[in-house]
Amino acid sequence: MRNKLVLEHVSKEFGDGDTSVKVLDNVSLQVKAGEFVAVVGPSGSGKSTFLSIAGALLSPTKGRIIIGDQEVGKQSAKQMNKIRLDHIGFIFQSSNLIPYLTVRDQLLLISKLAGNPKRTSEERADHLLKRLGLTHRSNAYPEVLSGGERQRVAIARAWMNNPELILADEPTASLDSERGRSVVQMLADEVKLHQKAAVMVTHDLRMLDLCDRVIYIEDGKLSEQPIQH
Ligand SMILES: Nc1ncnc2c1ncn2[C@@H]1O[C@H](COP(=O)(O)OP(=O)(O)O)[C@@H](O)[C@H]1O
Ligand SMILES: [Mg+2]
Repeated sequence: MRNKLVLEHVSKEFGDGDTSVKVLDNVSLQVKAGEFVAVVGPSGSGKSTFLSIAGALLSPTKGRIIIGDQEVGKQSAKQMNKIRLDHIGFIFQSSNLIPYLTVRDQLLLISKLAGNPKRTSEERADHLLKRLGLTHRSNAYPEVLSGGERQRVAIARAWMNNPELILADEPTASLDSERGRSVVQMLADEVKLHQKAAVMVTHDLRMLDLCDRVIYIEDGKLSEQPIQH
């Protein structure tokens, strides 16, 4: 099956000279269509750094990143923005919603930025809001939503442009275990249903049975862990 994300010999150092820290040390990973990969490891081990590099939000010190069929770093900043908008859905620990936009407009904005037509965007937004149980919240502003609702809006927003790669950094951190599990289940379903690829950083080991692969990160190295279903 086709690779949706490839990292080849990626290293990342912050700072230079005596104060430099090597967070990733020559790591490689391939994620195929239909795969849901979990990344686990101690706090400060480089999970967020890894995900930011995988999503082309941060440049590696060394190594290559290929998203879909495009190698990162060969494009202009503008082209890179377009690749991110069209091909990657980001979900962060806190939902990062825009306070002055309604739930529905958060979704429409992302679609507009990608240059999609209004009519189809509205249909997609309404479809996703329904699927995530948010139809009754369409016209609400983020401040009145519960933590679980906000995170579901963030997921709907991440899916708005139908990205082939989903990157989630501790998406369940602000949720209780039941809501957290339902969020991860939605990610797993989306990956299987539409043959997407997803990488999720998590500290919640109870979620790992919903993933296909578990990658452990420590001391700058990745190691694949056996999964217990
Ligand atoms: N922009 C940065 N500048 C300097 N050091 C950083 C930066 N971002 C992360 N780090 C360091 O890199 C290490 C890994 O951080 P991070 O990727 O956030 O870990 P995790 O997400 O696993 O908790 C930490 O030691 C952190 O302090
Ligand atoms: Mg982190």
